[in-house]
Amino acid sequence: MAKLAFLGLGVMGYPMAGHLAKAGHTLTVYNRTTSKAETWAHEHGGEFAPTPREAVSGADIVFCCVGNDDDLRAVCLGADGAFAGMTAGSIFVDHTTVSETVTKELHAIAATSQIGFVDAPVSGGQAGAENGVLSVMCGGSLADYDRATPMIDTFSSMCRHIGESGAGQMTKMCNQIAIAGLVQGLSEALHFADKAGLDGRAVVEVISKGAAGSWQMMNRHETMLDDHFDHGFAVDWMRKDLGICLDEADKNGASLPVTALVDQFYKDVQKMGGGRWDTSSLFKRLQKF
Ligand SMILES: NC(=O)c1ccc[n+]([C@@H]2O[C@H](COP(=O)([O-])OP(=O)(O)OC[C@H]3O[C@@H](n4cnc5c(N)ncnc54)[C@H](OP(=O)(O)O)[C@@H]3O)[C@@H](O)[C@H]2O)c1
Repeated sequence: MAKLAFLGLGVMGYPMAGHLAKAGHTLTVYNRTTSKAETWAHEHGGEFAPTPREAVSGADIVFCCVGNDDDLRAVCLGADGAFAGMTAGSIFVDHTTVSETVTKELHAIAATSQIGFVDAPVSGGQAGAENGVLSVMCGGSLADYDRATPMIDTFSSMCRHIGESGAGQMTKMCNQIAIAGLVQGLSEALHFADKAGLDGRAVVEVISKGAAGSWQMMNRHETMLDDHFDHGFAVDWMRKDLGICLDEADKNGASLPVTALVDQFYKDVQKMGGGRWDTSSLFKRLQKF
């Protein structure tokens, strides 16, 4: 069993850290809002620390799941940051969805202290984290990936090394690009069914078994039809992710017209007050028409 640390106990991090503890690893956690770390430690029997530097003391592997590029820099760098407390030969595994730029930047800074850095964003949502069945896409050295995999496996049903530093985040961008148009398509289908006077649930029961079926259709149609969006993956986070995708496409020349359009639809949802609503709230936006 390894000595581990986990930084960031949000919707995703809290249950992910829980799976590591349940597997028997010794865990110290850090959360910006300390009360959450205290609750986690009480529930799982681990330790909590007031700063990332103190939380990572003596850890073989440090896991992290915070919000965006700036949040990741805040927990890694500076006198109280994780890198200041990690020792040579330890590994930092980042599950936050961030840009390739910050990933490569932190990978290079960590390397100057012989600290490994694996970018390992996740897909599968809150339920995937709670049930320990996330998909994890990784970049970094294969040796670091191999050392982290047994721990990642405690909350994942699919974990793959894709390539060098940043390749995990690039794969997550593909994931978000694929989801964006799909959720809009599902929303339009349910909106059309409603206008056509059809029973949305009956429609999904049959079309989900054919070529139109998807994770979003299976896991979100009930809540969409129930007008329930106060859960899941927040629109604010999705806009952050689509911004990362569109910036990267500007650099590599990829054409992402539907992604750019759906990003604007999510801006409408934010204007409706839905920044923390689940991404399936594209359906609610259509109900205005
Ligand atoms: N939710 C999903 O379905 C999902 C799915 C796949 C990927 N993701 C990605 O996973 C990451 C986390 O998502 P989440 O839903 O767990 O978010 P969340 O519930 O908002 O949690 C964010 C966590 O980051 C911490 N944090 C934010 N800024 C910080 C800073 N400057 N310094 C230190 N800690 C900071 C927060 O601390 P406080 O408690 O103090 O606010 C909290 O623990 C995001 O990058 C998101 O895009 C989410």
